[in-house]
Amino acid sequence: MSLTSTTTLHNGVKLPWLGLGVYKVEKGFEVEQTVKTALNLGYRSIDTASFYENEEGVGKALSESGIKREDLFITTKVWNSQQGYDNTIKAFNESLEKLKLDYVDLYLVHWPVPGKYKDTYRALEDLYEQGKVRAIGVSNFQIHHLEDLMNDAKIKPMVNQVEFHPQLFQEDLLQFCKQNDIQLEAWGPLARGNYLDDPALTEIATKYNKTTAQVILRWDYQHGVVTIPKSTKIKRQEENANIFDFTLTDEDMNRIDALNQNKRTGKHPDEFDYSPYL
Ligand SMILES: NC(=O)c1ccc[n+]([C@@H]2O[C@H](COP(=O)([O-])OP(=O)(O)OC[C@H]3O[C@@H](n4cnc5c(N)ncnc54)[C@H](OP(=O)(O)O)[C@@H]3O)[C@@H](O)[C@H]2O)c1
Repeated sequence: MSLTSTTTLHNGVKLPWLGLGVYKVEKGFEVEQTVKTALNLGYRSIDTASFYENEEGVGKALSESGIKREDLFITTKVWNSQQGYDNTIKAFNESLEKLKLDYVDLYLVHWPVPGKYKDTYRALEDLYEQGKVRAIGVSNFQIHHLEDLMNDAKIKPMVNQVEFHPQLFQEDLLQFCKQNDIQLEAWGPLARGNYLDDPALTEIATKYNKTTAQVILRWDYQHGVVTIPKSTKIKRQEENANIFDFTLTDEDMNRIDALNQNKRTGKHPDEFDYSPYL
């Protein structure tokens, strides 16, 4: 197993188990360097969004990398202010241009904006049918959002990207996604570095001669969850990728599961202030 190991989405498209997230990586030099170092280390999946305002730098790094397009997996997302059918098509074309790509691998509805996400998703379905995206999905969708969407959708989402880490082990959502063949993808897998000194994680990490970050990312992988940790630092990018040479025991998996506190670093999807976007 390695950085190019993939899970197969329900439409047959292969998504790497581990990718690089670039939220809060500054546009221009910082994002270009961050993506370049990751690609050099063997990362092939990059997660950006129009909201991050760094798609141009991602695109520049990709085009300068010399890596064949079919070997890359690029995700971007439609932001809340861009939702609705027509706006989404427009937003998609803008993202494509900034990324300097002919298609994206995965296009996601960033948040479930009430009253809009179904029209937004309909645009994603059309983009998919036109071959402009290889897979479509959602982000920050709770079970009730997924059920509501699937009542009307022609194409079941292939991915749901949500905040997910040991203190926010969303077991019900994970099971629901597994039952429906929707790949769960963890954002903020390291909880933005907030509890990497947790005593239980530290004890487990010491046992395997790994870091707590590696233990968390391995825990995701063993739960069948895709991860996209962000780091601008080459050493940490390397560390985060180095999770395929050890296996957590069932006992350690259970111990990590038990760290759950339903604690978020970001907004709860049902409590997000959507009012500016309605
Ligand atoms: N769909 C959504 O709504 C949504 C929301 C948030 C994020 N995301 C996506 O998910 C990606 C990951 O989430 P995130 O960036 O919020 O948080 P994260 O990956 O959990 O954590 C990133 C933070 O941890 C640090 N870090 C990374 N590797 C480390 C290591 N091995 N040891 C110690 N610290 C480490 C990073 O600092 P340095 O960079 O300084 O190393 C950064 O401060 C984002 O970049 C974005 O692509 C999506």
